Amino acid sequence: MRHAVYPGTFDPVTLGHLDIVARACAVFDQVTVAVLVNPRKEPSMDLETRLAVIRESLEELPGGAGGIQVMSFAGLTVDLAHRLGAGSIVRGLRAISDFESELQMAQLNRRLAPDVDTVFFMTGIEHAYVSSTMVREIAALGGDVGSMVPAAALRHLRP
Ligand code: PNS
Repeated sequence: MRHAVYPGTFDPVTLGHLDIVARACAVFDQVTVAVLVNPRKEPSMDLETRLAVIRESLEELPGGAGGIQVMSFAGLTVDLAHRLGAGSIVRGLRAISDFESELQMAQLNRRLAPDVDTVFFMTGIEHAYVSSTMVREIAALGGDVGSMVPAAALRHLRP
């Protein structure tokens, strides 16, 4: 059973994140989308809303949400991977600018847990410049983010 954890803040989940989930599902038998509970970050969407939006959005994937679990977690991603028996951490790469921080995280996670490997998937080019931060800013200023996030997220972004 090839099980991967896809950790993130998902504030909000974007079509780019869903693209990564779909790509991961093509490679792994089980994918767990894990939403970080970070007491130091003040997310614009509360945890329960982020989980609900992800769950609803996954239903819209062409393959459905089968084999995908959604949960929250606190603490280290590698500890979660161990608890779940997942051998891989999935992360998405949009552009070269993501690489440095992702490399650092992957190397440190490997040092903490040599038995857990990080696997990167490249987002589709149409998602390469979309980030949750920019989505929040554009939405807050009245811009149209309908092509960047799933419908469930859009409902929560609209004032
Ligand atoms: O969506 P994000 O904000 O880019 O996700 C970052 C995330 C959640 C993957 C990262 O902050 C994380 O793994 N946090 C859990 C704590 C942890 O394991 N830190 C050590 C990473 S080397």
